[in-house]
Amino acid sequence: MEKKRVITLSQFIADEQAKFPESSGDLSKIFRDIKLASKIVNRDVRKAGLVDILGAHGSINVQGEEVKKLDVLANNEFIASIQAGGDCCALISEEEDYIRHMNPDAKYIVAIDPLDGSSNIDVNATIGTIFSIYRRISPKGSPVTEADCLQKGTNQVAAGYVIYGSSTMIVYTTGQGVNGFTLDVSIGDFCLSHPNIQIPQDGKIYSVNEGNFPVIPLEVREYIKYCKTPDASTNRPFSARYIGSLVADFHRNLLKGGIFMYPSTETAPTGKLRLMYECNPMAFILEQAGGKAIDGVGRIMEVEPTELHQRVPVYMGSTKMVEKLETYLNSSEAAQ
Ligand code: AHG
Ligand code: MN
Ligand code: MN
Repeated sequence: MEKKRVITLSQFIADEQAKFPESSGDLSKIFRDIKLASKIVNRDVRKAGLVDILGAHGSINVQGEEVKKLDVLANNEFIASIQAGGDCCALISEEEDYIRHMNPDAKYIVAIDPLDGSSNIDVNATIGTIFSIYRRISPKGSPVTEADCLQKGTNQVAAGYVIYGSSTMIVYTTGQGVNGFTLDVSIGDFCLSHPNIQIPQDGKIYSVNEGNFPVIPLEVREYIKYCKTPDASTNRPFSARYIGSLVADFHRNLLKGGIFMYPSTETAPTGKLRLMYECNPMAFILEQAGGKAIDGVGRIMEVEPTELHQRVPVYMGSTKMVEKLETYLNSSEAAQ
């Protein structure tokens, strides 16, 4: 029997780059840096219970959230690796108040959620890293501006996530489809395991923090009621699945089909999730995989960013499920 050839992430990226002979290779180098940091974070996550890296760091981040030790560790690892690589001119991170300026002669900007799902760290549930890459607008060599960092999601050059689950994977897109690579710890490399990921057009999983039910918009409540109403012809009631780590909830729905929702609430009118390093990268991946991501009004990737840590309501997943939700959002009377 012929042995199947293993394609590593590095090989895959090199092959992709070779299709564009005019490319500088800088983007590939950023992937190399992200890959290295994710392996280091993976190592630390895997022994989190054995060493003193569980629990609170003792500080509060710019968004008023308690910072965990692994948040800090992951932030430091990704920044160190990307900075040392020298191919990034600026970075924005969930854990940093301001733009972090790097090599002014480089052309790429990275937005990152270094550790997604912080509330799950201490309980051994799946966590992740989310990243998004843009090309600067201002010329190389000049100081990076806020406008460089606040570009619409449609300008993303690449986006991806690392999921530290029962295995560790990198899933990413550069606008040529979505591919997933699983870390083989025995060889220390990510290997292509999920080529050309396509989200099922329809699904039967809905993912939302239902504890917020009384404080989310009426139209979304009506859609959730629809998800729960028995109907054999549409496979309802759907299954509720919600871990509380965006990466984990998103990854499951990407592979199985489903809808993820984080609507506005009475106390958080723009929702909870951040546009630049949570919603936009996931929206890019999703659209590349044949799914849909909206903020309730239009495409997530067309939201005009105004702040580094801006939050947006988000509804994303299998196209048919998102479109069904839209029938509710677009009518004051709940559609049937
Ligand atoms: P982070 O850990 O990076 O701050 O992100 C947490 C986010 C996201 O991962 C998840 O989808 C959401 O918070 C869960 O929020 P609730 O606990 O409000 O459901
Ligand atoms: Mn997050
Ligand atoms: Mn985070």
